[in-house]
Amino acid sequence: MQSIYDINYVYEALHFPYQEMDMQQTKIAYTAYKEQDFSHLKNLAGISDKTLEIHFGLYAGYVKNTNLLNEKIIELTEQGKSGTPEYAELKRRYGFEYNGMRLHEYYFGNMKAGGSELKPDSALGKKLSEVYSSIDVWKNDFAKVGAMRGVGWAVLFQDPITKTLSNHWITLHEEGNIAGFVPILVMDVWEHAFLLDYKPVDRPKYIEAFFANVDWEAVEKRLLK
Ligand SMILES: [Fe+2]
Repeated sequence: MQSIYDINYVYEALHFPYQEMDMQQTKIAYTAYKEQDFSHLKNLAGISDKTLEIHFGLYAGYVKNTNLLNEKIIELTEQGKSGTPEYAELKRRYGFEYNGMRLHEYYFGNMKAGGSELKPDSALGKKLSEVYSSIDVWKNDFAKVGAMRGVGWAVLFQDPITKTLSNHWITLHEEGNIAGFVPILVMDVWEHAFLLDYKPVDRPKYIEAFFANVDWEAVEKRLLK
């Protein structure tokens, strides 16, 4: 009679039917992500070209690492090693690299030299006033989120179900994203985003500089109707 202390019995009890699938030949479809070009971003107010140049380099690193993770994960899947600790650790890393890539694209994509004005009668202006009572109240709240201690992002999100808007803090790149929420305005507050131009204690000055460079037309395009 088998005992639960018999290692083979334990192994058989835990034996997933999917494990047979691991032994089959697998081929996973994959397209590598391409780095987007933000080199047109120059002469921003209060954010130096040197900061941007370094920042583009960091972004390129996230694209590279996202592709590398994808390749490694696919390689392990194709080798039938999906259930291994190595596979699990790569999967755990995925949200960091992927969001690191994507959040930078939103961030660079919502700025332009010369900035622009958020018009109170625009769809976004009206929606912000509706939710926060005024654009100034919303902006103050967004800036306060951005000034929170720690490394991360301030994001104005839209809930695709209720269509409402809310400001959120994301720690690193992956903690605080809400499933399905659409990033409308994204601000990087990792210190690499401003340390060449401002002291850490002067983060609020960087936040003001960020606002002076926002491309509200690009932001407005992200809004769900
Ligand atoms: Fe960044």
